[in-house]
Amino acid sequence: MTYYYGAAYYPEQWPEHTWEPDIRLMKQAGLNATRIAEFAWSRIESSPDCYDWTWLDKVMKLLHENDIGVVLCTPSASPPMWVVDACPGMLNIDVNRIERPAGARRHYCPNNPEYRLHSVRIAGAMAQRYGNHPALIGWQIDNEFGEGVGPCYCDVCAAEFRNWLKEQYASLEALNEAWGTVFWSGQYNSWDQIKPPMQGSRPFAQPLIPGLRHNPGWVLDYERFSSDSFVAYQNLQENAVRPHTDKPVTHNGMGLASNNIDYYDLFKTLDVCGYDCYPSVVAESYSASSRNMSHSRNLTGKPPWILELSSGGGFSTWGGARPQAPPGALRLVAWHVFANGGEMALYFQWRMMAKGAEQLESSILELDGVPRRKYEELKRTASELKRLEPWLSQTQVKSDVALIFSYDHHWAHSLKPFSNSFSYSDQSGALYDALVAKGLNVDVVSLEADLTKYRMVVLPSPILMTPEIAAALKSYVHGGGVLLSTFLTGVKDWHNVGIWDRPLPGYLDDLFGVNVVEVDPGCPDLPTRIALDTGACKCEVKHSVWSDVLETVGRDTDVIGRIVGSYRAGEPVITRNRAGKGLAYYLGAWLEKDALSTILDEVLNAASVLRSPIIVPEGVELIRRTGGNLDVTFLLNWTYAPVTLNLNGLYTDLMTDRRHEGVFELAGRDVAYLRKES
Ligand code: GLA
Repeated sequence: MTYYYGAAYYPEQWPEHTWEPDIRLMKQAGLNATRIAEFAWSRIESSPDCYDWTWLDKVMKLLHENDIGVVLCTPSASPPMWVVDACPGMLNIDVNRIERPAGARRHYCPNNPEYRLHSVRIAGAMAQRYGNHPALIGWQIDNEFGEGVGPCYCDVCAAEFRNWLKEQYASLEALNEAWGTVFWSGQYNSWDQIKPPMQGSRPFAQPLIPGLRHNPGWVLDYERFSSDSFVAYQNLQENAVRPHTDKPVTHNGMGLASNNIDYYDLFKTLDVCGYDCYPSVVAESYSASSRNMSHSRNLTGKPPWILELSSGGGFSTWGGARPQAPPGALRLVAWHVFANGGEMALYFQWRMMAKGAEQLESSILELDGVPRRKYEELKRTASELKRLEPWLSQTQVKSDVALIFSYDHHWAHSLKPFSNSFSYSDQSGALYDALVAKGLNVDVVSLEADLTKYRMVVLPSPILMTPEIAAALKSYVHGGGVLLSTFLTGVKDWHNVGIWDRPLPGYLDDLFGVNVVEVDPGCPDLPTRIALDTGACKCEVKHSVWSDVLETVGRDTDVIGRIVGSYRAGEPVITRNRAGKGLAYYLGAWLEKDALSTILDEVLNAASVLRSPIIVPEGVELIRRTGGNLDVTFLLNWTYAPVTLNLNGLYTDLMTDRRHEGVFELAGRDVAYLRKES
């Protein structure tokens, strides 16, 4: 298997005489891939049907001659001026009904029929010309759909939204019932009365109108519709490209919850998951990016392509000071990608640009194109990658633990938060962090994933519930699985309306053996704490942010956490219920780091999840890759200080062939690649 290592390159912005030396430098560093053309539409087609392929032909040829593989992008993220003129009404209208002007990027509506035709035409033309080019290794459709923009709220979208709703609900009566429009006399008498809302999910859709509170069913469906619009838009381009190529087609996503698109849907038809991975080059933490890597790894089941990777800072493009990448950072982030299952790592970007909105954005080469320390670091990493390739290709990142991430849950929490003190994404992140800190691989997967592959499933605050999802969870537990669900489980139905005809957690009360009878966001004025008793650990911890008020109703429900102090003293808040061959844990309270870790130890032990024998301190990332008889552990020290670990076994360093047993030193910001000897 070939691993791809390189950087995004923008030859259209540079005079021709720079191409050859720039590309030669890539080759001399041992790089073997690049990504080009995602914003180059006006250089390819400067006016209607006036194509100029000569420059791109030359660049493709030069790259091929230097053994640099190319991910070629369709350029629809930045429609040229003449396309905007040719498609009246194609500009994106934001949630506050402000038109996004041409002159930047992503100024389009994915539903605009004329713009769709232009996108399909340019994608098809590129594929026809380069679909079989020897330099080509794959396609990227558009660039980071929705980034910084969010959904479109134009008239075309309004009409398409109504069509989408007709398909979902068939009748207006059904829609009125599902959304609960009786509230505040919001009932619709005709489909035409339904408009796009003026409120959406954060971060893009903050309404300018004070006090505006929309129906939760309406806003949630608009998020779903908008996500479907981008998926459909992508599929049109994908279908235009595929007949001319047999290379993988992908898109560059932005990490699991960065914009308003359901990546499970978006990547369903794509060959690999593309993801733009921006871990901080200076921070001592890696977990947010690790969670994104896990999600990307599991989206298509194939090793993800990292189409953009942090290259540091320096000049700030977006305001605020952006730290430069200290020595070792670019190597560290590259190994973060490859160890976590990536097949490709392309930095953003090869050479600092002089022009435009992103002028002086961070890069491997500075403006003058002279290779310096960052270049040398890539050279070293490329040679390490060559050496490690056989071990990477024979091993995979496998996991006994799944963490569910659902866009419907994410949107429901974000559109109608019940407390500003936590977010779905933060809750999911806290659970992920606490698990990986124990030296575990964790798979971030969808609600539709095959859960039977996992010993343990963690379900963060699944606020929306259906009988079907509940049945799947029950079947998993009854078959022997161990499930942990956290507070705010099954509060509302799939239309974002409270479940009122049965006890909460909706459809799951019997599985957990509890009823949620009230909720309590925690009050600093009341002396409420939580007493944990897992058998292995008895302690009292802080109560803040949130707790569900539980009553146990199951015959086999054990209480492992109770409220201490205040009027709630003695109430259960964390429970364990035996159901069939498995166990269902209900974590009814938000817990701080140490307490969460204690509860997770209890659940991991109950699920017999094996951990790595190597215990890592905070700031050291451990990724275990296995395959056949091979067991390879990657250790990445994100801290600046050296750490001393106990390997608890015999290992060979795959880079130096040196053997290590017991105490092992890892320098600050360094990486180790250790094969376990039996
Ligand atoms: C995103 C975009 C790139 C560029 C970088 C800058 O990832 O895809 O085009 O804007 O951010 O950091």
